[in-house]
Amino acid sequence: MIYPIVKYGNPVLDTPAATITEFDTPELHQLIGDMFESMMAAKGVGLAAPQIGISRRIAVIDISCGENPADKLILINPEIIRNEGSQTCEEGCLSLPGFRENVRRGKRTTVRAQNLKGEWFEITGDDLLARALQHETDHLAGKLYITHVSMLKRDLIRRKVKKLQKAGEWA
Ligand code: NI
Repeated sequence: MIYPIVKYGNPVLDTPAATITEFDTPELHQLIGDMFESMMAAKGVGLAAPQIGISRRIAVIDISCGENPADKLILINPEIIRNEGSQTCEEGCLSLPGFRENVRRGKRTTVRAQNLKGEWFEITGDDLLARALQHETDHLAGKLYITHVSMLKRDLIRRKVKKLQKAGEWA
């Protein structure tokens, strides 16, 4: 099932998500399948469960946008254990359509996470993958990428979104 993407302004995006304690259940398999489907439909490279209104610590990433099955990544209860170097790139988010900002992030990132069976593993990514790992882990802590831009830029985005909400173009 394809879920609609929750947009900036919805409190679920600002709420730290709940840790997953039950693994390998049909319900968890279904949810992760739905997350990949929803991410593909929205043409994203990453999706966190709060973005479909589910406040649980699950994220999916596919930096190949469906081109390479080996790039499909499931992260349950992920935590960043290493961040090295720095990169500054334009970043966007499915929950903030139409906006992009330069964000400074680590260039190489290692995350520790659980898989569908609850087994812990580590993944290290560079550049775009490093950025996606940091962006999605942030989502699960209730943080959007705009928490990394200046207050001035963040206020500007907030005001623009308010206008769109008033015009009924942001639901
Ligand atoms: Ni995002």
